[in-house]
Amino acid sequence: MDWGMKNRLNRILQPETGRTLMLAIDHGYFLGPTSGLEEPYETVKDLIPHADSLMLTRGVLRSCIPPGTKIPIVLRMSGGTSILKELSEEGLTVAVEDAIRLNASAITLSVFIGADGERATLLNLAKLVDAGHQYGIPVLAVTAVGKDMVREARYLGLACRIAAELGAHMVKTYFCDGFEEIVRNTPVPIVIAGGKKRPERDALQMAYDAIQAGASGVDMGRNIFQSDSPVGMIKAVRAIVQKDAGLEEAFTIYEEEKAGTPVLEPQPA
Ligand code: R5P
Repeated sequence: MDWGMKNRLNRILQPETGRTLMLAIDHGYFLGPTSGLEEPYETVKDLIPHADSLMLTRGVLRSCIPPGTKIPIVLRMSGGTSILKELSEEGLTVAVEDAIRLNASAITLSVFIGADGERATLLNLAKLVDAGHQYGIPVLAVTAVGKDMVREARYLGLACRIAAELGAHMVKTYFCDGFEEIVRNTPVPIVIAGGKKRPERDALQMAYDAIQAGASGVDMGRNIFQSDSPVGMIKAVRAIVQKDAGLEEAFTIYEEEKAGTPVLEPQPA
């Protein structure tokens, strides 16, 4: 692996912990208007200082995020479908040269294993890995779940292993029972998606359980930006991912931020 590839990976997976907190705001690429993302920058500007990277499309990056923003970018490179039709028929939507122009630290696409678009999306992953290697840009494979697929270890493990075998540098999947076995069978770092909004304590429990089971972090969106305290949630998730906080400690961070009495960061002596 060359220096550029390693350097970009280190921007995403923090070298001190080997873990990452990605803030995902790419939902509009197939969902269209998404609650909480009406004005993307208004939503993320107070969250960015607590995230290790921001995952989004080039359209929202160019239109909404000021170029002076200090956050590594994970650029979505696939799409072409909407919730009105077959989601698995995604194609590549961005040239790797444009990802370079946008100074992406990593590029990402979805693969739909077990769905109509399986072959095409897996071949797209292979193409993106080749393009990424040409320029030293790591690829995150998102193991998207088709509407007929269940989010269980046997299926998600299959998807993660295939993505890693095709050369993905990181894989995103869903947390499930038996997650340790998925981690053991996937020779690259795994991050978990948050999925649909759930109560804050449940979302923190899921992040905690995933880290305990060997996840290298989270790529979380709705459970942060749709929370009644987005800053509280991202700080709480960060404590779990980067500081090995327990569930109670993390939930207290969320509650105190929500109540307006945030825990003070330790000050230098
Ligand atoms: C889905 O494919 C999108 O890439 C989202 O970025 C991903 O699902 C993470 O967001 P959430 O935590 O809201 O599920």
